[in-house]
Amino acid sequence: MAKRVAVIGAGVSGLSSIKCCLDEDLEPTCFERTDDIGGLWKFTETSEDGMTRVYKSLVTNVCKEMSCYSDFPFREDYPNFMKQEKFWEYLQEFAEHFDLLKYIQFRTTVCSVTKHPDFLETGQWDVVTETEGQQDRAVFDAVMVCTGHFLNPHLPLESFPGIHKFKGQILHSQEYKIPEGFQGKRVLVIGLGNTGGDVAVELSRTAAQVFLSTRTGTWVISRCSDGGYPLNMMVTRRHHNFIAQVLPSWVLKWIQERHMNKRFDHANYGLSITKGKKSKRIVNDELPTCILCGTVTVKTSVKEFTETSALFEDGTVEENIDIVIFTTGYTFSFPFLEEPLKSLCTKKIFLYKQVFPSNLERTTLAIIGFISLTGSILAGTELQARWATRVFKGLCKIPPSQKLMAEVVKKEQLIERITLLYSLPLSYLEKLSAYHHRGLMKDPSGDKLDYISYMDDLAACIGTKPSIPLLFLQDPRLAWEVFFGPCTPYQYRLMGPGKWDGARTAILTQWDRTLKPLRTRVVPDSSKPASRSHYLKVWAAPILLASLLLICKSSLFSKLVPDKLQDRISSYLVTRIRSCSFPSTSNAAIQYY
Ligand SMILES: Cc1cc2nc3c(=O)[nH]c(=O)nc-3n(C[C@H](O)[C@H](O)[C@H](O)COP(=O)(O)OP(=O)(O)OC[C@H]3O[C@@H](n4cnc5c(N)ncnc54)[C@H](O)[C@@H]3O)c2cc1C
Ligand SMILES: NC(=O)c1ccc[n+]([C@@H]2O[C@H](COP(=O)([O-])OP(=O)(O)OC[C@H]3O[C@@H](n4cnc5c(N)ncnc54)[C@H](OP(=O)(O)O)[C@@H]3O)[C@@H](O)[C@H]2O)c1
Repeated sequence: MAKRVAVIGAGVSGLSSIKCCLDEDLEPTCFERTDDIGGLWKFTETSEDGMTRVYKSLVTNVCKEMSCYSDFPFREDYPNFMKQEKFWEYLQEFAEHFDLLKYIQFRTTVCSVTKHPDFLETGQWDVVTETEGQQDRAVFDAVMVCTGHFLNPHLPLESFPGIHKFKGQILHSQEYKIPEGFQGKRVLVIGLGNTGGDVAVELSRTAAQVFLSTRTGTWVISRCSDGGYPLNMMVTRRHHNFIAQVLPSWVLKWIQERHMNKRFDHANYGLSITKGKKSKRIVNDELPTCILCGTVTVKTSVKEFTETSALFEDGTVEENIDIVIFTTGYTFSFPFLEEPLKSLCTKKIFLYKQVFPSNLERTTLAIIGFISLTGSILAGTELQARWATRVFKGLCKIPPSQKLMAEVVKKEQLIERITLLYSLPLSYLEKLSAYHHRGLMKDPSGDKLDYISYMDDLAACIGTKPSIPLLFLQDPRLAWEVFFGPCTPYQYRLMGPGKWDGARTAILTQWDRTLKPLRTRVVPDSSKPASRSHYLKVWAAPILLASLLLICKSSLFSKLVPDKLQDRISSYLVTRIRSCSFPSTSNAAIQYY
């Protein structure tokens, strides 16, 4: 008999989960408290329902080829980065294409999820829901929690002395929808994450002045890479990851920072990271220009508020502030779970591969979408859901809870040591090198998990991680694009369970879909002479390949690789040299997203 699965929430993660249940012949029932799909991507004019949602002007920060469901590419005419309504349309298309809507019970809130009395034998859960005042109870064989990361606004008023005296308007970005109502005002935005950057830029067009206060500063990266390709596609590549893994972290950090300072010097713009603080990044194309034009002024953290002004840590004062917007992020919780599971799930360390709570005797509850990645959350949630559904079915195994809990205890001790180290008066570099020596940390970019490493880790559990050597043997053209091209989600549909026949074509046409919405005015070839760098690029690729060809023919290579493979690789390289079409490698940027 098919197992019944309760999916809580019909956002990006919930939709992934319903589809993955169906792919595994499980029976999903999705409960969604609002009246539509899309979760935070469903824009509403007001925030009266207390839900975190996108603001009107929001544009995605991961491009369409890197942030789509792995067997459902965006239509080619979609822009690479899109406004929230367009992204929501895609979710709608996905739900309709796979006929997911009929599994969703809208306006239904999950009130509690508790272990069924015979949980130890069956792993079942009692789920209590409420639809328009009517309570219902049902038993499910498994539960997928897809309620999002951004449940409640984080409003740290207690950290701001005098804020209660302040007579102007105070709001959290959860309430921010459109720039109307800010005309001619002096606005103070507190907190520099992606929201803080976006809100400051948008209000700079209407407000009299925008002040942007940050404790930490941030690296600001653009959506667009050198050459105009979407940055994610240029940097999220397997060969970059390979290089990043062999380089010492301080070298990597140095290269990344040099690269990020190339667009503009962060120190000159007041954005460099405060000494001793963890590095962070935001995606924003306009913030540097606003700072350059003086419409946004970057400030240190606020020391104190008076009735009308803000005094900053550096001693400066800004008078006549009309509005303070806290863009200080969100907190999350799982109010419907029982203790100790409820508290445990909020600590990511207790989630095995960020999905399965370590303390459960039966692996029948999965948290989907509770991740911070250096790439698309959507693609991450989909792979999590693919793995979780296979675990529910017993097709993938995870270690027993005693073992997982023992590992968590070890990790906690390590973290304690790290925290202690952080409190020491060492420079960031010293701390970093200390961590590195202890093998504690590789990625200096903060809390986010590395996208390719995380995705590959999950894919390996499912059996769908692309094998590059095998691909080179079977299909060198595809292998080249997989290893040297962008790590798009289709790569996880090439082999193993859930293999999709369209994956190869999707990979080989990803650049067509990227360029299609850009080339809306094609001009016949101009007679403009090609630049020196163009010649360099044109020659660099064939020279590189010719060298590879020589290596292929060398005696060492012949000893190591069987004849058949050699022939295939050689003939592939020859074709590549002839065609010399390298859109994906011509602008190899350094991985730092
Ligand atoms: C402003 C903003 C912009 C973002 N931009 C990007 C981006 O450009 N690219 C990117 O990759 N990521 C982005 N993210 C990250 C974002 O979290 C993911 O893209 C994704 O939307 C998360 O989807 P989700 O389904 O996990 O959560 P949500 O979209 O929050 O959906 C959760 C759903 O669960 C429902 N729910 C909650 N509790 C209950 C309950 N008790 N009972 C029933 N239903 C319930 C909610 O109503 C909601 O529909 C952004 C996040 C924010 C806040
Ligand atoms: N598609 C997009 O472009 C887009 C747009 C918006 C948001 N998002 C996503 O939405 C999610 C939430 O983003 P967010 O920017 O709202 O939140 P966030 O990433 O959590 O950033 C909040 C910022 O507020 C500041 N802050 C936090 N606690 C504070 C405190 N106690 N006192 C003062 N300042 C404090 C910090 O900045 P300082 O340390 O610098 O002060 C922090 O970086 C993220 O995943 C983000 O990527 C995406």
